[in-house]
Amino acid sequence: MNLLALSGSLRRASFNTRLAEVMAERAPEGAVVEVATCRGIPLYDGDVEDEHGIPEPVEALRQRIQAADGLILVTPEYNGGMPGVFKNALDWLTRPPKEMAPTFKDRPTALAGATPGGLGTTLAQAGSLVMLRQLKVHLHAEHLRVSQAGAVLGDDGEVEQKTAMLIEKWLSGFCEFARRG
Ligand code: FNR
Repeated sequence: MNLLALSGSLRRASFNTRLAEVMAERAPEGAVVEVATCRGIPLYDGDVEDEHGIPEPVEALRQRIQAADGLILVTPEYNGGMPGVFKNALDWLTRPPKEMAPTFKDRPTALAGATPGGLGTTLAQAGSLVMLRQLKVHLHAEHLRVSQAGAVLGDDGEVEQKTAMLIEKWLSGFCEFARRG
């Protein structure tokens, strides 16, 4: 079982990329979690697409998603929604339209996210549901939300024990969901 955890933050010290890395460190037996970011993906521009085609970083990310048995979208929350850079990357990944289904349709997909505050990206996750329905992913009903990320996600490998257990349990559940297909 090969899962791809895609972080929607470009920040070097991102809590969401850290959350994806913790998933990779604590993948259940028989599963591998790879971490990806949206780094290098330019702003979507239809003229760029017409004149130059799909940018290489988009193609590279697309191949990683298509090779994965499950996709985890690890989204920060900006003003109650998914950050523009994340939405922009997902928009590129639906171009050209013939690539949308092989990338997303029926792909086991889960939402996760971390915030330094108390709501753990609840609004960003809820706001993503309309888009994910459009992409026709097979969405896991359990969303992972990590609050107080500065305190619980150590950047030196020291994840708070309760949070580590929550992440491991959630990952096992998503693996089971992805295995059922
Ligand atoms: C935020 N942040 C934020 N947090 C939150 O819980 N709800 C929100 O609506 C917002 N809005 C928001 C807007 C903008 C423009 C920024 C820059 C930040 C705070 C955000 O959760 C925090 O910066 C996280 O650390 C971002 O995630 P990464 O980069 O650490 O993964």
